[in-house]
Amino acid sequence: MIGKLNHVAIVVPDLAAATAKYRDTLGAEVSEPVDLPEHGVTTVFVMLPNTKIELLHPLGENSPIAKFLDKNTDGGIHHLCYEVEDILAARDKLVAEGVRILGDGEPKIGAHGKPVLFLHPKDFFGTLIEIEEC
Ligand code: CO
Repeated sequence: MIGKLNHVAIVVPDLAAATAKYRDTLGAEVSEPVDLPEHGVTTVFVMLPNTKIELLHPLGENSPIAKFLDKNTDGGIHHLCYEVEDILAARDKLVAEGVRILGDGEPKIGAHGKPVLFLHPKDFFGTLIEIEEC
């Protein structure tokens, strides 16, 4: 069912420093910072040949990643995103398999303008999983 690894999201305490490290130390191609107010994050996309890394930093008062950064002051891996062809079919199969979908269970438009859902980390070995229809 799942296809490509679309991205790995990493929450960082200092977006400029993290961007510089990926660009200058690792020699990666990086985007300008993009504010996504509806998601409560500012993100920098690191383009790799086979996937992307998304550096995330909280934006605004009620950022969903603020608590994560409080607990992980150095930053850390926040979620993995797998591509699926049909998000509603994927959701229905996951629910039938006993997986908990976060929120109201309805896909939301994600950071790339495509429908996404998040799966409960306790159902995936402690890893928050995003699925994105691609
Ligand atoms: Co994501």
